[in-house]
Amino acid sequence: MFLASFFLLIVTSAAKVPAIIVFGDSSVDAGNNNQISTVLKSNFRPYGRDFYGGKPTGRFSNGRIPPDFISEGFGLRPFVPAYLDPMYHISDFATGVCFASAGTGYDNSTSNVLNVLPVWREVEYYKDYQIKLKAYVGEEKAKYIISEALYLISMGTNDFLENYYTLPDRQSQYTVDQYQVFLLGIAEQFIKEIYGLGARKMSLTGLPPMGCLPLERTTNFVNGNGDGCMDGYNIVALQFNAKLSALVHKLNKELPGIRVVLSNPYNVFMQIIKKPSSFGFDAAAVACCSTGMFEMGYLCDQLNPFTCSDANKYVFWDSFHPTERTNKIISGYLLKTTLRQFL
Ligand SMILES: *[C@@H]1O[C@H](CO)[C@@H](O)[C@H](O)[C@H]1NC(C)=O
Repeated sequence: MFLASFFLLIVTSAAKVPAIIVFGDSSVDAGNNNQISTVLKSNFRPYGRDFYGGKPTGRFSNGRIPPDFISEGFGLRPFVPAYLDPMYHISDFATGVCFASAGTGYDNSTSNVLNVLPVWREVEYYKDYQIKLKAYVGEEKAKYIISEALYLISMGTNDFLENYYTLPDRQSQYTVDQYQVFLLGIAEQFIKEIYGLGARKMSLTGLPPMGCLPLERTTNFVNGNGDGCMDGYNIVALQFNAKLSALVHKLNKELPGIRVVLSNPYNVFMQIIKKPSSFGFDAAAVACCSTGMFEMGYLCDQLNPFTCSDANKYVFWDSFHPTERTNKIISGYLLKTTLRQFL
């Protein structure tokens, strides 16, 4: 009796999540953009200088990003490889794969801005992955991996910052509230689509306090509103997260067998930004790379003499993306809270 239940415990805990499958933008892209023709890349130094082997992979950070920490937290590999990275094959992707593309969003017109993968293309690659997985592990095992994997979905910031607030089109069509509803409709369709393809365990990521990204603070400063956070953008993030939460509730009721959670980084991220010193950081308003005020991608280059020497002292790596250490703190928090039920 004791032995039997002990055995059962081992079997169930070992069987919980066989793979991490990732969709989204630069918050979770492990290097897919390296393989497409866009200017939005980060596969050069100083990106990746604190990654394994100091290797710039195309992750928008000095080191690992949240899916890497989450995968490790689930007892899987300590990183999730990009589907388009020629270094990796289906044998690697069987326990984790990333379809994300930096610069994308829920809205097709967001991915057009920098010519990156729209979310429907990410799903096309996912379908392609399913075929390869079936060929590699067999139909039955593939079905098991697909339905028991944890799906991490993280995007939306670019829809507002790169698209709605930067270009005229969407602003002339929608109020910001209507635009949120439009994006939510796409998020719902997206989840229903991957559910239809077999996905069951999902984590939908909320927006960060996007008005506090160093780039937005710099814009605020240039516009003469001080150098604080853009409160308006933070309010939109909070509104959007509330709507995501309602969507999660609705989908859990509507779709049999689905388990979707909202992984909301907003509050913990805001605590870090407001009191960086209590988390061991020196700076939250400017990033490590270059001047820290506006650089990312090709502007964050190795020759810039201003780049900080210890990224662990900074909340942000470049003007738009957190450092590895911030990613680790936020992922650790999500693992202990919303993602815990899947562990
Ligand atoms: C985005 O584009 C794809 C491909 O053209 C299309 O199938 C899809 O319906 C579009 N999504 C939205 C929300 O317009």
